[in-house]
Amino acid sequence: MKWTALQVRSLRLEADDVLGIELAPADAAPLPFTWAPGAHVDLRLSNGAVRQYSVMSLPEEGHLYLGVKREPASRGGSRWLHEQLRLGTQIEVSAPRNLFALQPGSGLVTLLAAGIGITPLLPMYRQCLAERRPVRLLYFTRDARQAPFLQRLGTDVQWYGGLRAAQIAEQLAGQFPQWQTDAGLYCCGPAGFMDSVEQAALKTGWPTTALHREHFQAPPPAAIEAHGYSLVLQRSGCEVQVQPGESLIQAASRAGVELEFSCGMGICGACVCRVIEGEPEHRDDCLSEAQRHSGEWIAPCVSGCRSQRLVLDN
Ligand code: FES
Repeated sequence: MKWTALQVRSLRLEADDVLGIELAPADAAPLPFTWAPGAHVDLRLSNGAVRQYSVMSLPEEGHLYLGVKREPASRGGSRWLHEQLRLGTQIEVSAPRNLFALQPGSGLVTLLAAGIGITPLLPMYRQCLAERRPVRLLYFTRDARQAPFLQRLGTDVQWYGGLRAAQIAEQLAGQFPQWQTDAGLYCCGPAGFMDSVEQAALKTGWPTTALHREHFQAPPPAAIEAHGYSLVLQRSGCEVQVQPGESLIQAASRAGVELEFSCGMGICGACVCRVIEGEPEHRDDCLSEAQRHSGEWIAPCVSGCRSQRLVLDN
């Protein structure tokens, strides 16, 4: 992975436990990459941790703006950023990746955020407004003090504070008009919230292809195959037996091939590669339904194989 050193240009407390971080090149040069709303970057911290955060700024602003929630059970990512980051600190940043981009079209865009799930949706909302594309943003938080970025969203946003899970499900039930061609629904928040959104949309007749979700928490640990199978890395010209309980990334590394990866949890998409032969056992939360069904893609950090042989284009 290619890293770019960027400097912390501003820090701002956006809510009780959410830190806004502005990053830009130290020499005021333009950023060496661009992105579309919904993208995220990896940060490589000086304590060795690598974490993914959505980019909230738009490319024309010339800097990255990230919103980092301090997680109570932080293993050194958000806690380190909240406690150690200072103005002027240099930090290594990957090029943006996007698994959650707005689909082209002119249909209604419905954005649903819960808590810090607002971070990828806020730039999508701004882009839709700029393009005069019909858009709605529904934003659920525990209360106003824990509603980062609410002030800058404008009055058209539907904000709901302090609702319990059952009340949120009730609210969602009446929120989806009949699906029309080109309409899309984009959702980010805790898994339970996203499940409620999907159920409400599906009940109203929305097709699964119109539903897009972004995970920011790792799913529960996935089961790993009890059987071994053969892994072929075609471009590297090597073959290795994947042992029961071993990940594809570990097996490849044992064979001397380091596959690119970042989160290691199936949520960021950094490791996704092309399948040439074999039947993937998908356990990630980053591929779309269409990508899974195509059988052409796999996230080797968590996924495995149902067949006896898996050939990857690596
Ligand atoms: S490394 Fe993040 S999805 Fe595989």
